[in-house]
Amino acid sequence: MEIKKVGILTGGGDCPGLNSVIYGIMLKAYEAGVSCKGILKGWKGFIENLTIPLDIAEHDDLHTVGGTILYTSRTNPFKGVASIEEKAKEIAKQFQELDIDALIAIGGDDTLSVADALYKYAHMKVVGCPKTIDNDLAGTHYTFGFWSAVQLASNAMDNLTTTAHSHQRVFVVEIMGRDAGFLTMYSGISAGADIILIPETPFDLEQDVIEVLKKRVNAGYKYHIIAVSEGAYPSLKSLERDFKTISKEIIDKLPKDSFGNPLLAKLGISNVIVHELNLRMDLKEEFLKNDVEFECRSVVLGHTMRAGTPNSFDRILGLRFGLAAMKLVLDGNFGKMVSLQGNQIKTYSLSEGVKKKYITPENDKMELRDLLVKIRYLSKQK
Ligand code: F6P
Repeated sequence: MEIKKVGILTGGGDCPGLNSVIYGIMLKAYEAGVSCKGILKGWKGFIENLTIPLDIAEHDDLHTVGGTILYTSRTNPFKGVASIEEKAKEIAKQFQELDIDALIAIGGDDTLSVADALYKYAHMKVVGCPKTIDNDLAGTHYTFGFWSAVQLASNAMDNLTTTAHSHQRVFVVEIMGRDAGFLTMYSGISAGADIILIPETPFDLEQDVIEVLKKRVNAGYKYHIIAVSEGAYPSLKSLERDFKTISKEIIDKLPKDSFGNPLLAKLGISNVIVHELNLRMDLKEEFLKNDVEFECRSVVLGHTMRAGTPNSFDRILGLRFGLAAMKLVLDGNFGKMVSLQGNQIKTYSLSEGVKKKYITPENDKMELRDLLVKIRYLSKQK
């Protein structure tokens, strides 16, 4: 069947570069004589028939604009249903209601798993485009939005150094990334953060934070920036030995994700660290010995990291993903998602591509982080 109308939806948390993908799709669709229909608020709009026409003449240079003109939601039509197969067959009827021949879904693992089921169980003409600022999807080297968010966090930490310097303070900066530490690792290294804590390597408060701060203050440093992922957490040994304000019981009582793991991002880890450090008299004394009063503050970057316009990398990657996704539609190559491998745009099966990715021990950023943290104070020791 010839494709005449393609639907586009964006689901999950927003991300700089979503509009760039939409524009990339629209450019190729226009050339191919295919019209685009915007489906609003992700899968919610798909089910409820919420649409807008997408006329490219109305959207010059849309790739430069942050957010998504299609709005987004975290609606997952499969949540709580007994049979995904049955539900997929049921909602597949929406293709007719919406009057679309094919659909491009732009989203993370949650959004794309719905697209995958529509393809698998109802043979719908679906293509996916991976999105997350966290960069934690296995099927692509980079997701758009990641480098914009890294830059925002890096700039924030660069800027914090001036006020940290003026007040001789410790700043604990909490960076988005629930499961993986890519954002914290890259922005922390980029800004030269003094301690970098990520979910992949549970931290030891005594060894990785308190000892490092003591060594730094003895080496002459008067202020310190700690970059911490919202999903970072202490090792069990450190939790039991070093923590006064949280315990294993508190972590066990946190709400759980769909796999039953506690949602550590709900801990407010930067505040926990500030409270713990404030209780440490030995740390305060070490600072005072070096003529520095110990003062520690937390800064949660939160949604500022997803805000604003995409950087050039993300604009171009978004456009490339959009173009590639539309080409898959034109080629009749469904059930796939676009991806970046090296500098090449490739395709992946939807079900494989949306698996999670983490920073592994052999990643050279691990070594870089450890060197960056320790060589500065070591090289200044008398
Ligand atoms: O997955 C992207 C992300 O930005 C995470 O880094 C963060 O934990 C989450 O979304 C926040 O989601 P929400 O905007 O729904 O609070």
